[in-house]
Order: sequence, then structure tokens, then C-alpha cells
Amino acid sequence: MWPEPCQKYSNSALRIDDQDTYPQRLVGEFVGLVVSNDWANAEYKHMVVRVHPKALEAYAGQMFHLLCPSPDGAEVWMRRPMSVYRVDRDAGCVEFLYKTEGRGTRGMAMLKAGDEFNIAGPLGKGFSLKPEWKNIVVLGRGVGLATLAPLAQLARNSGVRVTAILSARSPEVLMSKDYFESLGASVVTVFDSDGSSAVENVETILEGLIADSAADAFFTCGSARLLKLTQRLGKARGVPGQVAMEQIMVCGFGACYVCVRTFEVGGVKVLKRVCRDGPVFNMQEAVGW
Ligand SMILES: Cc1cc2nc3c(=O)[nH]c(=O)nc-3n(C[C@H](O)[C@H](O)[C@H](O)COP(=O)(O)OP(=O)(O)OC[C@H]3O[C@@H](n4cnc5c(N)ncnc54)[C@H](O)[C@@H]3O)c2cc1C
Ligand code: FES
Repeated sequence: MWPEPCQKYSNSALRIDDQDTYPQRLVGEFVGLVVSNDWANAEYKHMVVRVHPKALEAYAGQMFHLLCPSPDGAEVWMRRPMSVYRVDRDAGCVEFLYKTEGRGTRGMAMLKAGDEFNIAGPLGKGFSLKPEWKNIVVLGRGVGLATLAPLAQLARNSGVRVTAILSARSPEVLMSKDYFESLGASVVTVFDSDGSSAVENVETILEGLIADSAADAFFTCGSARLLKLTQRLGKARGVPGQVAMEQIMVCGFGACYVCVRTFEVGGVKVLKRVCRDGPVFNMQEAVGW
């Protein structure tokens, strides 16, 4: 016979108006309601989900693990990790900016306003700002911009100035420029289509920011080239930084070790779990991919 369930624990997902019987929890499973799920451009969609207030404790760089519906009736195994794009505490919503890649995100793209969506989180360690950093530079590309966007929100709330270098294949697929600007960031856009995203050009921009004392720390996501550049420049010029890493995940909370990657800490190679030890890491410890 099964033991009586403990009053302090619950295995049921929290719906928007549910009472939380275990408020000490750091992570939960939530059934939210999709408010909107619109195309941001030809490749990316922007989803707004109303959730239980507990889920609104998510902060910049953390992620949710999403139970995506099936796009074709067959099973979609495992949840899909997705960065928090924005937390709108007034509206009670979390937002995701996502690329429709495979079956999970295609199923997610089919959700409409009013549909239920099961999300678990917030998971992982996000970005942190040191008090002495008054000017930060964020550099992102592709889905990396979704991960970096809430950092601009965090910086604004902390009185920190942001220069955002947004990289894309072409102006048509650039995302989040308006959002970064609305948060007070100075935005620099660079593209493959006109060659301005070349490492040498981005390096010149960064050197200029360092010379103007506008780069107390670098934050990057979504590009191995940008990571290598900020690591090299950061080491040479003494600029610290953080990187948000991506890795295929299964459990999302540290139990299965599927998401392990190699890092170099104090000259020693160590293995860390991206889901639990990250996804945000010291930029200099990340071993590129
Ligand atoms: C910490 C973190 C944050 C992320 N944030 C975002 C975001 O904000 N926006 C966004 O568009 N994408 C983000 N991704 C990538 C996103 O998780 C994948 O695009 C998604 O899992 C693909 O699932 P799929 O079923 O559509 O694709 P499929 O290719 O069919 O997926 C097959 C399997 O591979 C895994 N997988 C495939 N690509 C990735 C990937 N790049 N990273 C991790 N697992 C992958 C899937 O989870 C699934 O288990 C993030 C990934 C991580 C690890
Ligand atoms: S996904 Fe299971 S340990 Fe990271």
C-alpha cells in the first residue's frame, strides 16, 4: 500500500490561481495559459504565457523546461529547454522567443491563445551583475539574443548602462533590436550580408568601447566566434565576462548528466552540467565548441 502523501509536498502542476501548498520550492511545474504566440519574423515566434506567480521568480539567464505538444500525433519525448525572454510581473506572464527547429518547437508553434502549456522551472543559474560594473557589453546572435534580452532589463533596473551588439545573417532576421532599445541599451547591429559581423570588425567595436571605459564586463550567447573573441580580448584587456551555454538536455535539473561539457578552471579541465551549474558560466572557463 502507498503511504499517505505528505502535506508539504505536491506532485501536481500549479495552475494560475492555485494556492501553493509548498512555497519553499525553488522550482515548480506550472500549467500556464497561452496569451499570444505570434511570428516575430520568418523563423522565430514570440510566446506570452500567463502563469502562477511562483513562476515569475525567474531571472535573467534562467530557463524553463517546456512540455511541447506533438505537431503530428506521435509522442514528443522529453521537455525542451528554453531561456526566459522576459518576465512581465505586472501582467503575470513569462515570455519565450524561439526558433521553430524540430518536432518540439513545431508543436509549440501550433499553440494558440487560450491553450494550456506545461512549463517546469525556473531552472539553472542565470546572469549576475557585480556592483562595480557600471557599463556592460552584451553580444548575441540568433537564439542567443533571447537569452541576453532579460539581462538588459536586469541592468536597467540596477542602473547599469548597456551596449548591445546584435549579430544576424541579414537585417530581415535580426531580432529584439526594439526591445533592447526600449530598455535603454545603445544598440549596434552587425550583419553577415554586408560583412560587418566579421570578427575583425566586432573586435574594433569592442576595442573602441574599452577605450571609452564603456566595457566593464562582456556577456555573450549564441556564437562560438563571439565567445572566442570576448575570451581573447577579455584576457588581454582584463575585462571579465559571462557566457550562456546551450547543450542538449534530458532532465534539466542535474540528475542525468546528459548536458555535461568541459570547462577549464584554474588550468584544470573539469566537467560541469549546463542545466544545473549553468547555463551561465564564467566566460574564461568555457571551452569553445
Ligand atoms: C539553456 C538553453 C536555452 C535555450 N534557449 C532557447 C531560446 O530562448 N530560444 C530558442 O529558440 N531555443 C533555445 N534553446 C534551444 C532549444 O532548446 C532547441 O531549439 C529545442 O530544444 C529544439 O527542440 P526541437 O524538438 O524543436 O528540435 P529537435 O532537433 O527535433 O530536437 C531533438 C532533441 O534535441 C534537443 N535539441 C535540439 N537542439 C537543441 C539545442 N540547440 N539546445 C538544446 N537541446 C537541443 C531537443 O531538446 C530534443 O531533445 C535553448 C537551449 C538551451 C540548452
Ligand atoms: S540535463 Fe540532466 S543533468 Fe543536465
